[in-house]
Amino acid sequence: MVSLYTFDEFLYEKVENEYKSYLKKVLFIKISADVNRLSGDSNERDLALNNAAAEELYILYSTKEDINKNLQIPDDMPILYYGGHNKNARSFLEKFKVNTKNMYNHPDDMAMSGSKVEFSKKFKECSWLPKTVFTIDEVLNDSLKFPVIAKIDDGHSGLGIKIFKTKDELKNFKQPFKVEGEERKFDLYSECIDVDREYRTIFLKDNCILVNERIACIKTNKTVKTKNIDEGVDFVYVVSDMNKVPKSFINKLNEIAADIRKQIKLDVWAIDVVTDKSGEIYVLEINSAPGLGSEKLVEIYEAVYEDFYKEKLPSSFKEELNKKYISQCRKELYKNYKEEILKSPWAIDYESIDKKYKYIKY
Ligand SMILES: Nc1ncnc2c1ncn2[C@@H]1O[C@H](COP(=O)(O)OP(=O)(O)O)[C@@H](O)[C@H]1O
Ligand SMILES: [Mg+2]
Repeated sequence: MVSLYTFDEFLYEKVENEYKSYLKKVLFIKISADVNRLSGDSNERDLALNNAAAEELYILYSTKEDINKNLQIPDDMPILYYGGHNKNARSFLEKFKVNTKNMYNHPDDMAMSGSKVEFSKKFKECSWLPKTVFTIDEVLNDSLKFPVIAKIDDGHSGLGIKIFKTKDELKNFKQPFKVEGEERKFDLYSECIDVDREYRTIFLKDNCILVNERIACIKTNKTVKTKNIDEGVDFVYVVSDMNKVPKSFINKLNEIAADIRKQIKLDVWAIDVVTDKSGEIYVLEINSAPGLGSEKLVEIYEAVYEDFYKEKLPSSFKEELNKKYISQCRKELYKNYKEEILKSPWAIDYESIDKKYKYIKY
């Protein structure tokens, strides 16, 4: 564990004393015990915050590293499940007789959400899915309008994705190509949406609880339009103020979530969407284990806690968590990505958060 040095006093003073007897933790079954991999490119300070938040709010288990231990996993507590869906993960659940009724996310649903091809086939009749086909012949036979975006089935962060403006461009593109050292070919092709804005929307079951606008990182400028096929995209995740997000947007998202949950019953999950100029929403993909930096570790803890125990957390406790974790993340983002934040009309008031809370140095 990363040592917290100057963070110590700040992180461990109040909650330990005031709320210790009150606090009920959430069990968190992950693939690896390492909290550092929970969010993307974190710096040391982010990692220290992640570790502190995880330690304070969750009891962590690893399907990979704890499988040979003798564990007693409580059967009356909520379980956030990020443990994967391979054989190992399933034997972990069996061996320790994990109460799957208490689990937020299940391996079978997670398996279904990982494949872009499976997902697109399942929902191809839905108006919110960009028109998609699975062979190059179909594209060359005019079943899609150009520009077309080609993808590999199991890609992430934009890897193995390329936009083709014309049929000739696609015809002349050499397949296979290399992604992360492996020879790959495209597995699916979709019509390009004329993207106005792009969001990660996070759900607890059928309910959208968080909206982040994804703004292209200005410094690296890696978007699907500018990057090479073997490169990823770089987004800044700007937190939206739910009071600024139009009701119609949330309602439409909740309808989409209900469509998806008829077939894939995820509980803590994300839908990545884009909107076009007319405000129409299109789904790009879903994610069964959305990244959790310390800010989201807190928010998801609160949502799971209140859903499972059917009681509200005390607002003073929430404010404490806000001060320690959420506002510290937001200050960091504001410090590094002010320009991107300014581009997001629904953004929370980062400036006033920045003024209200002191930045705690790592
Ligand atoms: N149909 C589409 N139209 C326009 N842009 C798209 C489309 N599909 C994907 N993109 C762009 O490509 C990015 C990556 O696509 P996505 O399917 O989410 O793959 P990944 O798993 O790599 O994130 C998206 O964030 C979006 O900017
Ligand atoms: Mg994506």
